[in-house]
Amino acid sequence: MRMITAIPEMKAAVRAVKDRKETIGFVPTMGYLHEGHLSLVRSARQKTRVTIASIFVNPTQFGPNEDFKAYPRDLDRDAAMLEREGVDLLFHPSAGEMYPEGHRTTVEVLDLQDKLCGRSRPGHFRGVCTVVLKLVEIVRPDIAFFGQKDAQQAIILKRMVRDLDLDVHLEILPIVREADGLAMSSRNTYLSPLERQAAIVLSRSLRTAEVKIGKGERRAETVLAAMREMVGRESLARVDYIEAVDMDRLDPVPEIADGTLIALAVYIGKIRLIDNLIVRLEK
Ligand code: PAJ
Repeated sequence: MRMITAIPEMKAAVRAVKDRKETIGFVPTMGYLHEGHLSLVRSARQKTRVTIASIFVNPTQFGPNEDFKAYPRDLDRDAAMLEREGVDLLFHPSAGEMYPEGHRTTVEVLDLQDKLCGRSRPGHFRGVCTVVLKLVEIVRPDIAFFGQKDAQQAIILKRMVRDLDLDVHLEILPIVREADGLAMSSRNTYLSPLERQAAIVLSRSLRTAEVKIGKGERRAETVLAAMREMVGRESLARVDYIEAVDMDRLDPVPEIADGTLIALAVYIGKIRLIDNLIVRLEK
């Protein structure tokens, strides 16, 4: 695996791949890798000839009071994991490389960026879209791989690709979970042992929703109330949002239907965690 930090060098490496008429699969990450990230890498390895991963803790997607400085980083460990998975190229630019002095251009996906996580993280999705557009321009992948864990991010990025006619296909892969159901996240490492226990409440509440829906409940408010009650019983947990929305506009729906997105963000202590499920109704 070759690691590249400079944009011109990355572009030259990509040009060489394109000259060989080989397909490129791209997995953008912020590092501190876990099985969720690796599932994306494995899918890229299966579907495309050359696999490129990036590790860049993107400062523009963190709010002023968020965890940019504290975000866990371990490049050596990450690089070893990617090498083992057969990644060909690792792009690891500095913040100065991606955002040189005088950088002024950003990308916003209107409305969608303000819903769900956007309400408590203003500017977050502008940062995500801007960096992903830049990365996709540099890496020029045939397919870029993202996780359903960040459901709103996936929906917004798909919208950006459509709206800007970008020549890339986005593939969204299922949430990888710990044995007890907790969705894997680099931020889980912040949790104390007690908080780690409490964090199960996110996936448990989704499971409760699933059971209710499985029994025929279709009123969103009833399903969400059961989830809120469950999270409310966990003393270390504080709800940011629990919502049932349509996947197109991310607007709340009164009735659960096939394809409804149930998403939640919950603070466990000071750590904000997210999880979600897409409702599948048997036909
Ligand atoms: P990061 O949080 O490092 O996640 C990188 C990719 O891994 C994202 O597509 C995310 O959805 C996926 N992922 C994370 N946890 C997962 C899990 N448990 N199961 C499946 N996939 C999972 O998301 C970002 O970085 C950044 O916003 C980025 C897109 C790289 C732009 O900076």
